[in-house]
Amino acid sequence: MEILRTKVEVRSKLSQVRNSQKNIGFIPTMGALHEGHLMLVENAKLNSDVVVASIFVNPTQFNNVEDFEKYPITVDKDLELLKQKQVDFVFIPTVEELYSSKSILKFDFGYLDNTLEGAFRPGHFSGVGLVVSKLLNIVKPHKSYFGQKDLQQVAVIKRLVEELEFDVQVVTVPTIREHDGLAMSSRNIRLSPEGRTKSTILFQSLTYAKDELKSGKDWFKIKEQVVNRFLHSAMCSLEYFELVDTHTLEIKNSISDVSQASICIAAYVEDVRLIDNLEII
Ligand code: PAJ
Repeated sequence: MEILRTKVEVRSKLSQVRNSQKNIGFIPTMGALHEGHLMLVENAKLNSDVVVASIFVNPTQFNNVEDFEKYPITVDKDLELLKQKQVDFVFIPTVEELYSSKSILKFDFGYLDNTLEGAFRPGHFSGVGLVVSKLLNIVKPHKSYFGQKDLQQVAVIKRLVEELEFDVQVVTVPTIREHDGLAMSSRNIRLSPEGRTKSTILFQSLTYAKDELKSGKDWFKIKEQVVNRFLHSAMCSLEYFELVDTHTLEIKNSISDVSQASICIAAYVEDVRLIDNLEII
């Protein structure tokens, strides 16, 4: 496994790969890797000749400075895990390598910026769009892998790729969970043991709502019960709980008119913000 730190190195190494007719699979990450990230790597390994991962905690996608400063950094362990999975190249740029001080570009994803994550994290998707565009232009992969755990991020990236004509296939990989259902996340290690126990409320709310919806219960009644459950939970506070169209992320009030629907949740457990989602069908 080769570690690359500059754009020039990545461009030179990967142009050789492309010239030898090999296809490239790319997994962008912010590090603090877990089984969820590694599942993206495994998918890339199965479908590509050469696998490239990146580790970059992207400052422009953090709307909250404290969240950025507290983001876990475990580069040595990450490199060991990527090596075990036989990743070929890892790109680890510095902030200066990816952003010039003159950077002024912002992305506006319209409706996607005003709903769910977009509404609670202003500027977040602009930062995601910016860094993913940079990485796709530097790595130029044939396929790039993203987790369903960040459903809205997938929708944003698909729009980005379509509208800017990036020559890459976006592949979505299902969410990997802990044994009790908690979606794996780099932020989970910031939970106290008690917070970790309480954090199952997210997945439990999703599965409860999915089962009730499927048995015909009214969405607003289900949502009210979930909201009440959070109000009675000392450590957890709910930000949103919405029924959406899986592809457009448009908010729905019932599943009768949605061919593919998902439920999305965001909540704080202690001071850790967690998100998750579940497809209904
Ligand atoms: P990060 O949170 O490190 O996640 C990197 C990739 O791993 C994302 O595509 C994310 O959806 C996926 N992932 C995270 N947890 C997962 C899980 N439990 N199961 C399956 N996939 C999971 O998402 C980002 O970084 C950044 O926004 C990035 C795209 C790298 C741009 O900076």
